[in-house]
Amino acid sequence: MSRWASQAVGWLSESELTRARDLRDETARREFLESRVILRRLLALRLGCEPEAVDLPRDSAGGAPAPARPRTGEGGAGARRVHYSLARTPGYVAVLIGNRAVGVDVERRQSPAQADSLLRVLHAADRARLANEPERRRPRAVTDAWVRLEALLKARGTGLSIDPSTVSVGAAPRVRHSDGLIVMGVRTRRGSRLHVAVAWLEDPEGIRELTVGG
Ligand SMILES: CC(C)(COP(=O)(O)OP(=O)(O)OC[C@H]1O[C@@H](n2cnc3c(N)ncnc32)[C@H](O)[C@@H]1OP(=O)(O)O)[C@@H](O)C(=O)NCCC(=O)NCCS
Repeated sequence: MSRWASQAVGWLSESELTRARDLRDETARREFLESRVILRRLLALRLGCEPEAVDLPRDSAGGAPAPARPRTGEGGAGARRVHYSLARTPGYVAVLIGNRAVGVDVERRQSPAQADSLLRVLHAADRARLANEPERRRPRAVTDAWVRLEALLKARGTGLSIDPSTVSVGAAPRVRHSDGLIVMGVRTRRGSRLHVAVAWLEDPEGIRELTVGG
């Protein structure tokens, strides 16, 4: 594990350490620990408390992350709460923080075979559109659609506990869904083959944009 992260591992809770111990793969374990250290550091800056004092509760129903807040006793009853979302893919971690529901996903570009498998679980409208992409471009287009779908489902708090084929992400790079969530693909470094999308709950005072179902 990198030095910076091993020095900060004491910030993590017992349940985070238990989850890390349960990961058999050493790289996965290291990346999990590093991502939780980064998450705590960023949330602590936003919440104005120490990284080890950030409380990271989970929604009791689906296990989705509930808003983070300073641990009881720090900051008093009126302590701030912030929404966050986290995603990992080998070598990368993405964290999105906001005052309202947010979702983020990051994936490396899928291989043609992986893209074909993903295509099968997407909404029929997205599937039809993506199946028309030239074969050469399809892995990129399918991965783009997939990260937008995961970002949306994370912001909704369901994750993949719901059938992904019931939700259309649409063709536009930025879409406002009927529940007010805006989903947008994020441009990454040219040649990185990394795909990132973010979702956030729109400001009711904000501008109206294209709405799709799902
Ligand atoms: C949420 C989910 C889409 C994450 O996908 P993933 O590609 O495996 O992992 P990512 O790196 O993108 O995201 C991991 C983060 O998602 C977040 N997350 C987990 N469940 C979530 C939910 N229901 N809503 C929003 N975010 C969630 C957590 O912050 C997690 O970080 P952690 O592991 O440090 O706690 C997926 O794991 C899921 O839906 N799980 C719940 C349903 C399930 O287990 N279905 C069976 C698998 S098909």
